Amino acid sequence: MKNVVCLISGRGSNLEALLDAAAREQWEHTLRARIAGVISNRPGAAGLGIAAARGLPTQVIDHRQHTSRDSFDAALMQAVDALRPELVVLAGFMRVLTAAFVDRYAGRMINVHPSLLPAFPGLATHRQALAAGVRVHGATVHFVSHDLDGGAIIGQAAVPVHADDTEETLAARVLAQEHVLLPRCVRLVLQGAVRWHQGRTVELDVAGESLALFGA
Ligand code: GRF
Repeated sequence: MKNVVCLISGRGSNLEALLDAAAREQWEHTLRARIAGVISNRPGAAGLGIAAARGLPTQVIDHRQHTSRDSFDAALMQAVDALRPELVVLAGFMRVLTAAFVDRYAGRMINVHPSLLPAFPGLATHRQALAAGVRVHGATVHFVSHDLDGGAIIGQAAVPVHADDTEETLAARVLAQEHVLLPRCVRLVLQGAVRWHQGRTVELDVAGESLALFGA
């Protein structure tokens, strides 16, 4: 069985979308894969409740209990490794990871980011998009590299930006697409249809599936 470990920091709607897809598509049978555990760096993360309600093991590694990034990441690594991950999914995980952590999971750790990278890395992506006046915005799933939000892109979903959009309306439109894109990318990586090779994404066999989604 391939274990998927999810790291979260808050609401957990991407985690929920992933769990829904795994159940709907019966990943335990079709992919021999399961979400093996959920780890949050925040004790109050709502996503912990979502995971617990489905009987998943949850853990909190509170970054505030650590005096350095190195010590937090070492504790996180220990917790992740205990779950024997095939794949680590950053599903709304809001901490910058050290190089040692990134190296350990090179090619088997992916992140969902709410912009069409390489535009608008970092925080407040919807505000950045509105300020830049772009007409198209979206979400990206990528392998995690040493560059913040800069790793090899797996898939993207684009949405229109409307003239009357606020950060909130735009964020909601993008989030709905994240919920489609992330499970799809996770599945393709677990299937071995998409993999990481020397810092690039290689598509082996996406079986007619598009990694570019266009949402409304
Ligand atoms: C998502 O927009 C994700 O892309 C970003 O933070 C948000 C997390 O939302 N990194 P949720 O916790 O998955 O609901």
